Amino acid sequence: MTKVAIFASGSGSNFENIVLKVDKGELNNIEITSLFTDHHDAYCIDRANKLKVATHINEPKNFESKSAYEQHLIQLLKREEVEWIILAGYMRLIGPDLLDAYEGKILNIHPSLLPKYKGKDAIGQAFDSGDNVTGSTVHYVDSGMDTGEIIEQRQCDIKPDDTKEALEERVKHLEYELYPSVIAKVIK
Ligand code: GRF
Repeated sequence: MTKVAIFASGSGSNFENIVLKVDKGELNNIEITSLFTDHHDAYCIDRANKLKVATHINEPKNFESKSAYEQHLIQLLKREEVEWIILAGYMRLIGPDLLDAYEGKILNIHPSLLPKYKGKDAIGQAFDSGDNVTGSTVHYVDSGMDTGEIIEQRQCDIKPDDTKEALEERVKHLEYELYPSVIAKVIK
């Protein structure tokens, strides 16, 4: 069983979905050691408390540099013998310190069919684009914004009468299947 930490900044519904799948025995290749978040009031902390997952709350503004922040995270990760990092709505670029420490072992999920609509509000970008399909992508993390090697994508329709909220819901449902399935295949 491989030890994995999940990083999130916001709601944490993907985090919760992965933990529930592990608890149900549907993802038996991994053990979730903890949730790492960069916001003291992020909703993912409430979810972690309910799920009895340990949390590490570290705000970069309390460190003298990005490198100092990431070195602190690395210390915590190593203490828990974490081998892989799963980003699930972590709204921050991974810096050279974490990339060096976890080379090839950081995954991210992004709510678009990359390379389309990188960065913030990918759902809004797709919604405004006039495209009739969008989806979600799981990829390895590199130093760029949503630029790492693509592992797998799933797509869904953008319907003529969609709202952005309805589209977001549809994409999230794809993600709840896609991310665990990639995690099961990639993390050994
Ligand atoms: C997901 O749509 C994911 O693709 C993106 O951020 C969102 C996180 O949602 N990176 P949640 O916090 O898991 O609900």
